[in-house]
Amino acid sequence: MGKSDNKIVELSNYRPTDFVLERVDLTFELDPTNTKVDARLIFHRREGTEAKSPLVLDGDELALSGLLLDQNEVPASQFEATPQSLTIRDLPESAPFEITVTTFINPEANTQLMGLYRTNGVYCTQCEAEGFRRITYFPDRPDVLAPYTITIIADKAANPLLLSNGNFLGGGNYDEGRHFAAWFDPHPKPSYLFALVAGDLGVIEDTFETMSGNEVALKIYVEHGKEPRAAYAMDALKRSMKWDEERFGREYDLNIFQIVAVSDFNMGAMENKGLNVFNDKYVLADPETATDQDYANIEAIIAHEYFHNWTGNRITCRDWFQLCLKEGLTVYRDHEFSADMRSRAVKRIAEVRHLKSEQFPEDAGPLAHPVRPTKYREINNFYTTTVYEKGSEVTRMIATLLGQEGFKKGMDLYFERHDGDAATVEDFVKCFEDANSRDLKQFSLWYHQAGTPLVTASGAYDPAASTFTLSLEQMIPATPGQPKKEPMHIPVSYALILDNGSVVTPNAVAGGEVTGDVLHLTKRKQTFVFSGISSRPVLSLNRSFSAPINLHFDQSTEDLVHIARHDGDLFSRWQALNDLILPILMQAARDARDGNQIACEPAVISAIVETAANEALEPAFRAQVLALPSEADIARELGSNNDPDAIHAGRTAILSAIADAGRDVFQQLSDDMQIEGGFTPDASSAGRRALRNSALGYLTYAEQSPARAAEAFASADNMTDLLQALTVLEHRFPETDEADAALGAFVTRFDGNALVLDKWFAVQATIPGSGTLDRVKALMADRHFAPNNPNRVRALVGSFAFSNPTGFNRADGEGYRFLAEQILAIDPKNPQLAARILTSMRSWRLLEPMRADHARSALMTIERSATLSTDVRDIVERILKG
Ligand code: TRP
Ligand code: ZN
Repeated sequence: MGKSDNKIVELSNYRPTDFVLERVDLTFELDPTNTKVDARLIFHRREGTEAKSPLVLDGDELALSGLLLDQNEVPASQFEATPQSLTIRDLPESAPFEITVTTFINPEANTQLMGLYRTNGVYCTQCEAEGFRRITYFPDRPDVLAPYTITIIADKAANPLLLSNGNFLGGGNYDEGRHFAAWFDPHPKPSYLFALVAGDLGVIEDTFETMSGNEVALKIYVEHGKEPRAAYAMDALKRSMKWDEERFGREYDLNIFQIVAVSDFNMGAMENKGLNVFNDKYVLADPETATDQDYANIEAIIAHEYFHNWTGNRITCRDWFQLCLKEGLTVYRDHEFSADMRSRAVKRIAEVRHLKSEQFPEDAGPLAHPVRPTKYREINNFYTTTVYEKGSEVTRMIATLLGQEGFKKGMDLYFERHDGDAATVEDFVKCFEDANSRDLKQFSLWYHQAGTPLVTASGAYDPAASTFTLSLEQMIPATPGQPKKEPMHIPVSYALILDNGSVVTPNAVAGGEVTGDVLHLTKRKQTFVFSGISSRPVLSLNRSFSAPINLHFDQSTEDLVHIARHDGDLFSRWQALNDLILPILMQAARDARDGNQIACEPAVISAIVETAANEALEPAFRAQVLALPSEADIARELGSNNDPDAIHAGRTAILSAIADAGRDVFQQLSDDMQIEGGFTPDASSAGRRALRNSALGYLTYAEQSPARAAEAFASADNMTDLLQALTVLEHRFPETDEADAALGAFVTRFDGNALVLDKWFAVQATIPGSGTLDRVKALMADRHFAPNNPNRVRALVGSFAFSNPTGFNRADGEGYRFLAEQILAIDPKNPQLAARILTSMRSWRLLEPMRADHARSALMTIERSATLSTDVRDIVERILKG
């Protein structure tokens, strides 16, 4: 199972390989259980390396069945092969030489979904991060780049389609009903970007003309019959290609770009050069089966993988510690793309919600690590929201510090200087320094120091001096392995808003560097004095979330309401409403726990309802305001001694209070936000649907009856509305006739559609309350469940553990014991999936003592297992220790 060694890999031990790989030539003779792989590799010894050092190639569960050196068999005395490595001695000292390695592998038995595997009868590969070594012995590290020639031979009837990276060279018939195809990728690439797909799939085709006039063939492959559901992905691809040309000057560089959708996949998608492989969940969509969120995800992930062609493929990572170099940057690029395609402010709100609910807890818990870590035991466990999302925020801050122009100059220099390289984070940062003559040394701490900085702010207005004084203090919490932190360079965007809503620009600011509307907080404590302020302003801080920090700023309800009404930055208006309601939800949780009356400040309720009713604001924004902080958000803010039942009860009471107070507004919205005509997935229609569904949700709180949701379920003409209605029925009125009827109708209607069935599983797995565990257990035996399919497992077990606070954190600890059993059952088949789901336990120390105790013993049950994968062992030990 994976690597059997348990060694820790350290950045400080990095050194280049002794041998340079010049060319790769692979021949696959595909067979479901016995695929033959011939790898011809041409190397030469790197100048300056120690003479006589052996060539050591990586393997994972491999058996060597043939080894040639310059076409001659290598004597047994000259090499050593284990499942993990192949070592060859006495190689030519200066001349290039050719090694031919033959292995046989079993794609059908590959349940890890790393390397070459089968999914629904289709051969497919996943090589990032270290999957290539499960195909053949190879220097399987990202700083070894070479052009690849691939020949695929397979049964023609079963596999009419034979695909690999690069441009198609040719193909033809072979013996015994077989055929072959050859592909050549001229762009040197590391092994993690290799891909092969073979099988029988349907295709939709299009073309794209690049800015210099090259025509690129675009193909998206899906299961036969699903072709129409790939149209939106194709459209998103063409928009991505255009956008990257316009915004970053990046042009596509092969004559073909292909995407294959598969149903068994460990993550979202993979950016293999010229041949992206996708989880079909992020390709397939039509109004009947996909929600607005699904459409938005498809657009973002298609863009993300396409953008990797430059940030990841043309410029790759020197080693896996540099993962954020491609991921953080590419997430930033896909965020900017979605912002341009949709509403920038609403997109930013969604990003920050996601960052706070996923990355902040990671950064505050036992799994906290820097954006650029310095050691790992299992690289699979570092595809984290810290590397991706915080990595994106760090890139965004560079843009904030340098301005759009300066950022562009830095990016241009990066592409110019490092095209074809395996680069480092330092290389990247240096481009921005050099292009802008700026020192980013202190700023770089964002890559190296883990933990979310806490910034405490306080302000005072002096009418006599016409000054406003702002004191800022930063504190970076201790994280595993990093007890002490240095002060960071934090860009804090601000505005001073007057009574009449206008924004004042001070005539001078003292106390630190200020560029435009950005304060540069660089010391532990810093005081900024704004002068020429003729009346008391309201301070809006960290606008657009200019820095990924926790901000403690004790502002009055009046000031926050003022920001919510007047800030020119829509994000800040949302933020202010969030800052108003969060303490109320926290107090409601405490009151629920203590059996006190739960109350909500009327001024806050009216600010929310007023915003919902404000027709000058886009519907998607209003829907974001109505979507209160989640139970997990409240738990995070409470910080310790969490009782999920009390949090749920408190939040429900506040929802009801808002529902009662805003009943007329919600009724009005549910009428006004109806959409005439057919479904379109554009952002503005999606916003109207979101607002209407939100209003419907509140109305069912006010009415205490499932009738309205049952009616919405019956009349829905798209998946967004249908699923929302089903969710309200199941979560709020479970086991009523209405809920049961809807659930049954849903599964009957979508019986053969796995992606929709995932929604059916997830809705049930997230029903609040202690009874849900039994339902989840029963669903594990449902005929629609598939224990080896990652999407199904995530939909049922993952949703339960990550997104059902009251159900999973049952007071008796049964939820944790169930999870432990599941982890131990999944791990031998798919360690990556098991480790990922186990991270749902990362905040166990924040639970009240009884639950924390149960959680610890469940974790210890896992830890005691003798046969854990490196993936799960790494996570369970860190979660228990940290
Ligand atoms: N590089 C991919 C992306 O972010 C994600 C990825 C990493 C992945 N490892 C994987 C996908 C393993 C599938 C399986 O776009
Ligand atoms: Zn990526």
